[in-house]
Amino acid sequence: MVLAPALLVVAALLAQPLGSRSGDDAGAANLHPVVLVPGYGSDQLEAMLTAAYEPPAPACAGSADQGWFPLWPNHTAMRDASQVPCFADQMSLVYDAGADDYRNADGVATRTPFFGSARALIGWDRLVQQLEGMGYRDGETLHAAPYDFRYAVAPPGHPSAVGDRYFRDLGRLIQESRLIHGRPAIVVAHSFGCALTYQLLLSRPLPWRRRYVKHVVLLGPALGGFAHGMRLLSAGMDYGLPNVPRPAMLRMARTQQSALWRLPTPLVFGDRPLAMTSAAAYSARNVSAFLEAIGFQEGVRPYLTRVLPMWEALPPPMVPVTSVVGFGVSTPETYVFGADGLEGEAEVLYGDGDGEINMVSLAAVERWSEVEGQVLKVVRLRGVHHDGFFSIDFALNSTLAEISEAGESVIEQIGIVSCQQKCSDY
Ligand SMILES: *[C@@H]1O[C@H](CO)[C@@H](O)[C@H](O)[C@H]1NC(C)=O
Ligand SMILES: *[C@@H]1O[C@H](CO)[C@@H](O)[C@H](O)[C@H]1NC(C)=O
Ligand SMILES: *[C@@H]1O[C@H](CO)[C@@H](O)[C@H](O)[C@H]1NC(C)=O
Repeated sequence: MVLAPALLVVAALLAQPLGSRSGDDAGAANLHPVVLVPGYGSDQLEAMLTAAYEPPAPACAGSADQGWFPLWPNHTAMRDASQVPCFADQMSLVYDAGADDYRNADGVATRTPFFGSARALIGWDRLVQQLEGMGYRDGETLHAAPYDFRYAVAPPGHPSAVGDRYFRDLGRLIQESRLIHGRPAIVVAHSFGCALTYQLLLSRPLPWRRRYVKHVVLLGPALGGFAHGMRLLSAGMDYGLPNVPRPAMLRMARTQQSALWRLPTPLVFGDRPLAMTSAAAYSARNVSAFLEAIGFQEGVRPYLTRVLPMWEALPPPMVPVTSVVGFGVSTPETYVFGADGLEGEAEVLYGDGDGEINMVSLAAVERWSEVEGQVLKVVRLRGVHHDGFFSIDFALNSTLAEISEAGESVIEQIGIVSCQQKCSDY
């Protein structure tokens, strides 16, 4: 069921060829500072166990007085099966219904090292090297804003201690770009980082956005969630580890605040059937019923009060946006469950997208093209997977070209550029 991608009109023309850009210091002096906001799991997470920690298995007790250690990525757990329950326990969060907030498991302290530096990121190496080739310097004109990706933020009136602290830190990093360099920042976000960046912008007054943000480059944004987000809640997550028992997979997937942010939103997905059993069909409008049906009743209230209200509308951020997305990759769109119901195996029907995010969600930003005063450029890269911006040559080049162009104020028209193998515009 792979849908033929719509024919797209090349409507945005670049004023200048990008090949003339120089990477020398004279060029560097004219650069707008760049702030990188990674996606889920794309930065390091360190943990420390305190006296309050109750090891779920004897193998987890040994780590009690070792100080800070890498929780994510954790290579010991990849090799050593006895470490799997420890990893699962320490990666899980707790939703405290009384406090209406999420926190770490008891006795687990966590932190994200290297805030401000591109060293913090996982998987961005090639893009970072290319930016350095253009004259960017890590910690000076190039910054990264790693975060504890198990958390998210909440709408006004709902506490979200970890996410609120991150928004303060990210806001400060963006602000400092202007205060130190005299130039507003280009924010480059990927995946879950796009959703967070977008919500940060909405949480700041318009004058703040205009003063501190030159341009936002979104890589693979899912501003409407994605169908696979439902499957991750029904089947759980194993983080690539071997033989993780189902209860541990469910606990890791369901306790994290960010898990509910993956769910497809009614605004973007409408009535499309996303999960089907012989008895019922669930669309994005039935998420509460779906959560009940998979035995995740505890998720319903946080979903309805803390997540859905943030995604019921997609107001334009009113700072210039370039969205770069992959398309033409088979992407799970509908899960058809058999006799075992939502807990069993599912047949997957595929549609268009980047392999992870459905096209409707990648395209959600396009509704801003009608908004007066909202500069928007969309670049669609055929065959590029959700993480391909950092690994596929032509996608990497296109991403760099867009970041470069974002600093130049040459985007005057709203338009969609569709590229295959290479972007001939460049
Ligand atoms: C992995 O995590 C365990 C605890 O779950 C810890 O004891 C160990 O030091 C970590 N090791 C590495 C290399 O990541
Ligand atoms: C899903 O929502 C629709 C419309 O809101 C409703 O008619 C249908 O019964 C719901 N399905 C389930 C499985 O709850
Ligand atoms: C990417 O850019 C590099 C250097 O600018 C160039 O040599 C290479 O041919 C480009 N690759 C593609 C696939 O466009």
